[in-house]
Amino acid sequence: MTDGLDDVREHYRATGLTGRLKMALAALGPEHQRLTPQQLGALDQFHTRGLAATAELAKLAGITADMAVLDVGSGVGGPARFLAATHGCRVVGVDLSEPFVDAARYLTERTRQSGEVSFETASALALPFDDGRFDAVLLQHVAMNISGRTQLYREIRRVLKPGGRFATFDIVLNGGEPHYPVPWARTPATSFLLTAAATREAIEPAGFRTLAWQDDTEAAKAWFVQLRASGPPPSPNLGVVMGPDFMQLATNLGRNLMEGRLGILTAVFEATSINS
Ligand SMILES: C[S@@+](CC[C@H](N)C(=O)[O-])C[C@H]1O[C@@H](n2cnc3c(N)ncnc32)[C@H](O)[C@@H]1O
Repeated sequence: MTDGLDDVREHYRATGLTGRLKMALAALGPEHQRLTPQQLGALDQFHTRGLAATAELAKLAGITADMAVLDVGSGVGGPARFLAATHGCRVVGVDLSEPFVDAARYLTERTRQSGEVSFETASALALPFDDGRFDAVLLQHVAMNISGRTQLYREIRRVLKPGGRFATFDIVLNGGEPHYPVPWARTPATSFLLTAAATREAIEPAGFRTLAWQDDTEAAKAWFVQLRASGPPPSPNLGVVMGPDFMQLATNLGRNLMEGRLGILTAVFEATSINS
């Protein structure tokens, strides 16, 4: 089996993304006008339940102004900008996709947060940071794209200070194989789902103690029902980032949740000693 990184990069290749964002954001006002994380929420929170999920995860993780936070798989940077704007912390995001990092930097200039929020292109499996650099690490809807889970959680543990927090919000395998395409995978080639139990078994030996563990599948299902009832999403939305098939990808995720094939896990861990 390959590690799938090239396929994952291809899935999020987003050709000409920053240019497309510039055009789409003209609907919100002229280029020089400052945008807020709330205005961008429909296009820069690339996970189930959008901005509300990021707000809840940050609260559960106990993010405070004095923290240095790392967002692993930061996408186009919505969660990082929201954390800095809401909690006053400094945030660094890393992502495998260069066009996403480029777009994240552009959007951060538009929200005038480039002093507190920065982005780097890197793999979560080889984080470009010294040991113990961060107080908290967030991982939202990323692990399902990563086959090397042992390495992923070891890297996250390595860059955390002892006592630091690791907060994860991810899609897990439940009662069967998903229908494709889904937002993280148009085919099974970029999908590396684990069950919730297997996720915990991969995380704890990397040097973590569980502080919070929640099955958030019902909340996600309710969100999809509401989304369907409320008609087409506000514009601009994640279709700008992922292309015109995004609605189909998202609809399939909702269907997989409704059919009990997939679930949603929220968990927070404390960094303890590292077992080798
Ligand atoms: C569904 S998006 C979630 C983005 C962001 N966390 C959010 O919630 O808005 C998944 C992101 O994970 C990134 N990703 C996938 N595999 C990665 C890896 N090995 N290293 C770094 N980023 C990765 C993708 O490029 C993509 O931006």
